[in-house]
Amino acid sequence: MTLCRRCAIRCNIERVYGNDFTAPSQVDAPAEDDPGFLALLDDEGRVEPRDAMPEAYRKTLVRQIAQHAHSEIIGMQPEGNWITRAPSLKRKAILMAKVQDEAGHGLYLYAAAETLGVERADLLDRLHAGTQKYSSIFNYPTITWADMGAIGWLVDGAAIVNQVPITRCSYGPYARAMVRICKEESFHQRQGFEILHTLSNGTPAQHAMAQDAVNRWWWPSLMMFGPPDDASPNSERSMRWGIKRHSNDALRQKFVDMTVPQSHALGLTLPDPELAYDEASGHWRTGPIDFTELFEVIKGNGPCNVQRMAHRRGAHERGAWVRDAADAYAAKRAARTEAAVA
Ligand code: 3HC
Repeated sequence: MTLCRRCAIRCNIERVYGNDFTAPSQVDAPAEDDPGFLALLDDEGRVEPRDAMPEAYRKTLVRQIAQHAHSEIIGMQPEGNWITRAPSLKRKAILMAKVQDEAGHGLYLYAAAETLGVERADLLDRLHAGTQKYSSIFNYPTITWADMGAIGWLVDGAAIVNQVPITRCSYGPYARAMVRICKEESFHQRQGFEILHTLSNGTPAQHAMAQDAVNRWWWPSLMMFGPPDDASPNSERSMRWGIKRHSNDALRQKFVDMTVPQSHALGLTLPDPELAYDEASGHWRTGPIDFTELFEVIKGNGPCNVQRMAHRRGAHERGAWVRDAADAYAAKRAARTEAAVA
């Protein structure tokens, strides 16, 4: 057992998945080119928390899983904004369930990161200090009800394309967490499509509202996949390690190919005059993507970065009493258990 720095109580994070005898920090990390490690990856084997792993592999996973977890919880804000204004009780209940799902995804992912020997409290500190990122997409405002449809259809649709391959990630806890997350994202994508379908086939004003939302969310959704491959410093190594299974551009293209026919079914257009089907390759080709916007949003200059972080920090501060109460309860239980076995 180890002493948790934050709550000063005994915790068993490092025993998760049977890692009873060694903490990650006590295992001699193999070199990046360790033949045993590379052979495991070549065989499509899974790395588990008790396994020795190169330090850079562990750090890359912490970085990606933490950013992913942060994205899930920050992602609650743009949609949470509409819970009180959803147009019916049914829509309200669905949206509330969806936002709760995102909180759950954050929890699975923080738990997966903790199996790598980091503490959730530290990861949150890094988010609040701005030293760990979250997805660019959640820095855009949700102006109308149709934005709930566009987020579900496009943002969750992009998330599915990006995240289904992570169910085959070489790191076991991350891969397993993604199975349930992807199932829930599929539901989210369908509910977004259904909202837009209803609006698109409604009054002219409702149709226009749906079209406006799609116009605003299309390009940011394409940017969610990250910079183009030739400007993605992490892709090559993450793909060699089986953390990422496809490049950013390959996944972006898959999303475009999947989404264009759906836009036809919705009766909505995508805001790209250069979008065209390329017979030779069998792919839909978009016009150029303005990646300077992505880099600006990542740097903190998106329309809602300041608001999102202020809200997150405030929520964390307001929740301090809950964490204190949980720590006090856990300490009491641990003391009781210790007394009972003494
Ligand atoms: N927003 C913010 N930062 C981004 C970004 C984006 N859309 N795309 C890339 N970046 C950052 C990377 O984190 C990296 O920064 P770092 O080195 O300081 O960490 C830098 O830009 C360079 O990009 P790379 O392509 O080299 O980085 P990666 O190899 O990590 O690829 C990724 C980026 C494709 C986002 C990958 O990390 C990934 O697949 N992550 C898992 C999925 C995820 O985090 N999705 C976020 C959305 S969650 C979501 O959609 C929730 C759902 O409910 C809607």
